[in-house]
Amino acid sequence: MIADAKIRVFQSPTEVARAASELIVESAASAIQTRRCFHFCLSGGSTPKPTYSLLAATDREKIRWSQVRIYFGDERCVPPDHPDSNYKMASDTFLTSVPILPNQVHRIPAELDAPTAALQYEQAIRSVRFDLVLLGLGTDSHTASLFPNSEALLACDRLCIPIHLSQPGTDRITLTFPVFNRSRRILFLVTGPEKAEALRSIHDDPIDIPRRPAQGIRSINGDVIWLVDREAASALQKNTV
Ligand code: 6PG
Repeated sequence: MIADAKIRVFQSPTEVARAASELIVESAASAIQTRRCFHFCLSGGSTPKPTYSLLAATDREKIRWSQVRIYFGDERCVPPDHPDSNYKMASDTFLTSVPILPNQVHRIPAELDAPTAALQYEQAIRSVRFDLVLLGLGTDSHTASLFPNSEALLACDRLCIPIHLSQPGTDRITLTFPVFNRSRRILFLVTGPEKAEALRSIHDDPIDIPRRPAQGIRSINGDVIWLVDREAASALQKNTV
């Protein structure tokens, strides 16, 4: 079980998105006030889309976008205009709707061969400490592209690595535990009944990172917050607020 997790349960995915967007606005304001810049690392998947839509519309004016730098926690090995690209998803849902310049968006160059792309991105983020990282959860308990029983879970001297998956055309590039865990704040967004068992297992079962990679996310000097909806939380036994 994750002893220090903060789990907040909401009635619906819409309420999760509202709470997430508020936390992003608050984290941005605090980072910009104290350090002049907000280093924000995005997640892929479908769960964050409603949150990104709020950032593009209702909450757009609440963030000083000129002081924001965008990064990605993982990416599929496809060009940036491919339908599977996390960069494209973020661009379509909010990056093209907010006043942010191309040089403020640090995407993973996933159109290159994977080892080269991973090395280039590692160089790009080496001196960055993320103020906020968004993460999702897979039904197999993966997060970012850190999958069960993968060698990537053991990477302690790399910040970004290529991931080869058995199905053709599914290779990815992911950031690793060391870079996620040195972030100032980590925000998991988890919604839907299909995530209930993975969420329960991560929070209520013993730590077993090879089996449940999301248990390896432990902010060294910041906090980890889980925003989940009622359906995803339905199997949880403890730790909720
Ligand atoms: C990705 C993610 C991945 C995702 C989970 C949950 O690029 O797909 O980084 O880790 O967050 O698989 O995905 P959903 O939000 O689509 O359920």
